[in-house]
Amino acid sequence: MAKESPKEIFLKDYKLPDYYFDTVNLDFILKEEHTLVHSKIHVISRQGTLSPLRLDGVDVKLLSIRINSKDVKEGEDYSLSSKHLILHHPPAAQFVLEITTEIEPQNNTALEGLYKTTGNFCTQCEAEGFRRITFYQDRPDVMAKFTTRIEADKSLYPVLLSNGNLIEQADLPDDRHYAVWEDPFKKPCYLFALVAGQLVSRDDEFVTCSGRKVALHIWTPAQDISKTAHAMYSLKAAMKWDEEVFGREYDLDLFNIVAVPDFNMGAMENKSLNIFNSRLVLASPETATDADYAAVLGVIGHEYFHNWTGNRVTCRDWFQLSLKEGLTVFRDQEFSSDMGSRAVKRIADVLRLRISQFPQDAGPMAHPVRPHSYIKMDNFYTVTVYEKGAEVVRMYQTLLGKKGFRKGMDLYFERHDGQAVTCDDFYAAMRDANNANLANFKLWYSQAGTPVLTVSTSYDAAARTFRLKCRQEIPPTPGQPTKEPMLIPLALGLVSPKGKDLAVTSVHDGESLKFLKDEHGNGVTTVVLRVEKAEQEFVFADIPERPVPSLLRNFSAPVRLVSDISDEDLLFLLAHDSDEFSRWEAAQTMGRKLILSLVSSVQQGKELVMNKHFVNGLRSILCDSSLDKEFVAKALTLPTEAEIMDLMEVADPDAVHTARRFAVKEIASSLRKELFDAVTNNCSNEAYVFNHENMARRALKNVSLGYLASLNELEATGLALNEYNTATNMTEQIAALAAIAQNSGDLRTETLSKFYEQWQKDSLVTNKWLALQAMSDIPGNVKNVEALMDHPSFDIKNPNKVYSLVGGFCASAVNFHAKDGSGYNFLGDIVLKLDELNPQVASRMVSAFSKWRKFDPHRQALAKEQLERIAKTDGISDNVYEIATKSLA
Ligand code: ARG
Ligand code: ZN
Repeated sequence: MAKESPKEIFLKDYKLPDYYFDTVNLDFILKEEHTLVHSKIHVISRQGTLSPLRLDGVDVKLLSIRINSKDVKEGEDYSLSSKHLILHHPPAAQFVLEITTEIEPQNNTALEGLYKTTGNFCTQCEAEGFRRITFYQDRPDVMAKFTTRIEADKSLYPVLLSNGNLIEQADLPDDRHYAVWEDPFKKPCYLFALVAGQLVSRDDEFVTCSGRKVALHIWTPAQDISKTAHAMYSLKAAMKWDEEVFGREYDLDLFNIVAVPDFNMGAMENKSLNIFNSRLVLASPETATDADYAAVLGVIGHEYFHNWTGNRVTCRDWFQLSLKEGLTVFRDQEFSSDMGSRAVKRIADVLRLRISQFPQDAGPMAHPVRPHSYIKMDNFYTVTVYEKGAEVVRMYQTLLGKKGFRKGMDLYFERHDGQAVTCDDFYAAMRDANNANLANFKLWYSQAGTPVLTVSTSYDAAARTFRLKCRQEIPPTPGQPTKEPMLIPLALGLVSPKGKDLAVTSVHDGESLKFLKDEHGNGVTTVVLRVEKAEQEFVFADIPERPVPSLLRNFSAPVRLVSDISDEDLLFLLAHDSDEFSRWEAAQTMGRKLILSLVSSVQQGKELVMNKHFVNGLRSILCDSSLDKEFVAKALTLPTEAEIMDLMEVADPDAVHTARRFAVKEIASSLRKELFDAVTNNCSNEAYVFNHENMARRALKNVSLGYLASLNELEATGLALNEYNTATNMTEQIAALAAIAQNSGDLRTETLSKFYEQWQKDSLVTNKWLALQAMSDIPGNVKNVEALMDHPSFDIKNPNKVYSLVGGFCASAVNFHAKDGSGYNFLGDIVLKLDELNPQVASRMVSAFSKWRKFDPHRQALAKEQLERIAKTDGISDNVYEIATKSLA
């Protein structure tokens, strides 16, 4: 059989399929040594012409193929290659195609298609996994009505699930049984799912806004079922929220969620049968942190929201992935904001963008929100498509207002329910519903790179005008040397010297005078400027005193803001801005400046000096009891090493680490008393509750404890140990452990082993233990990580384990980027080993190399050597090949 080599696929080559599939009947016979899949497809030629029909199929053994009940011949009627089956001359404009294939789910370590996980069968088909089950037109614009019959051993696999409704179920001889599921909605095959195994369910019910009862089930192995209460709460909250906020009701009488321990990604929105990585379902106070609880809420919401944004309206092709993912991330972010603190959620989302997406947009894998090409689609489930995509959706809302955005959403559903569409269709719905001028906004989908928005301001006391000069520049990215200016919504406020927002009534945008009014006819306190040109000037008239501008409020666009704002003004905003996000951002901006200047002192061998004003600014925040405690915790947290390195011409991990560590210790010793108070005042022996107030209290306490432990002195360590010993929930236990583990020594070793002893039977908890050690900045940590690869709690076949240990290690600036190349060497070895088992996971790991050009020549050479070694290894997957070669290009 001919082997096909990696092939790049381009958006510009998109063509409608020649054939549609109307109905699909699947029959699975699940056995221990193999699985038989029989498919019967009603095929319809789109235009009546009879061109060859090309089906995708990878690692499937063809047992039989029939057309209209007649056998067909290889060579004459069809041909096979390693990735396709081509029917040379379909007989008529409509025909029935029957194919039987044999697959080996028990040997499937790639975890796509049908595979086994701890004894149970499950599927993962997005993006192109269905072709590992049977031959099919594996593309999202082919939508069919699926009926699925599953047959299996009854005692080994008592539970048999697929999409839609259960329509038949019975026992068979030899302790076997079967179930038939019918999905009334047409869907692309990437939304197909099957689960068979020993599972129990938590059951509940949701009554929809029109009064329909929906049965809800969350399935897990018996020992985990007690940990699903929070997931069920989250699901019901999500169902209600989508009705209230977007008017979207659930459309079937049944909704299933299954949690599996081996899963490449977070979760999957298969129609009515969501399959989840168990890390995003299972939560109990003792084993899950506040962050885990929040992640469960967000991802349960995310997958549920896909039912409308993804399933009812799906993507025409995979280049449009952000159509469903950017939009659904935006929806889950809004959901979480409404369920907790909006400002804190916004801060967390912006941080993620800055730490992960900005560097991607500045590196060799930079791609637009709607990519132009790919080799492996799995490589494009990225922070750019997801998180930057969500920012693009958020910008529509910022430009059109909440009501206008909702109108756009309603029109989108009205026009496209049941269709497979594009980002252009979404744009058109937003524009048409609002009669809006969104001129060069669409470029956000096609231009990669983070725009740099430079703003300078001036106040003219005599003329009472405040002037704002904006310049936008989008850096070159692979394949895109030059860019056009785009519409950037710049939200801003003008804060008076007394700390109050000025009400602005008009602005001149260089072309005309625009009047501004809120719904009561007054001036507005947050203005959204439309920055559309490369250079543009805005003038506010009638400004009585020099205001402090609060720029890019709520992070109104995913840009790098460069402004001439002084430290004094930043401290003023930190204390007074009415926009909580901007207050936090003021502290971050100062923190970034401070650490960057410390970095250059480290590099020049100068003495390190702390900025006292900054420390005092943090002190006032820490002591201001009127502030939300989680906000305080966030404001106290310095920019990460990754953010600082991203801002440097040549990233210097050692200097960044030294500088940031210095700043942390300076803050800790200057605010020692206040931090101690923050820990003692925020203890509680009440039972764990997942609500904002309690999470905020724990967050502030844990951040404070982390600062104090950095001092590595008796009293602080004693406090951390006491916190560790008395903790009754994982949020406080792991934070205390992390605080202690900052400093090497016996206490660190002892506490780590105590923790392991306590939790060795809980795989999700031992992942935290692995990650905490892997991320450590203790010198020479690569040795420990190598040793942990052989620890009983590690399993290279489980993606969560790999992400915790190997991914955790790559997040440590000093150890991964160690000058002796040990970190790079370690990763190179692992990638090759992983690639033989699971290309998707290997490819995610190899991405850690993609920033190699940001480092000094010595490190560049070492990283390049690994990338080259990987790229030229025989038989590497298309996944790893794409990342490695693009990184080297
Ligand atoms: N659609 C899923 C989600 O957003 C992600 C599936 C990712 N699959 C993959 N092979 N990359 O929740
Ligand atoms: Zn999604």
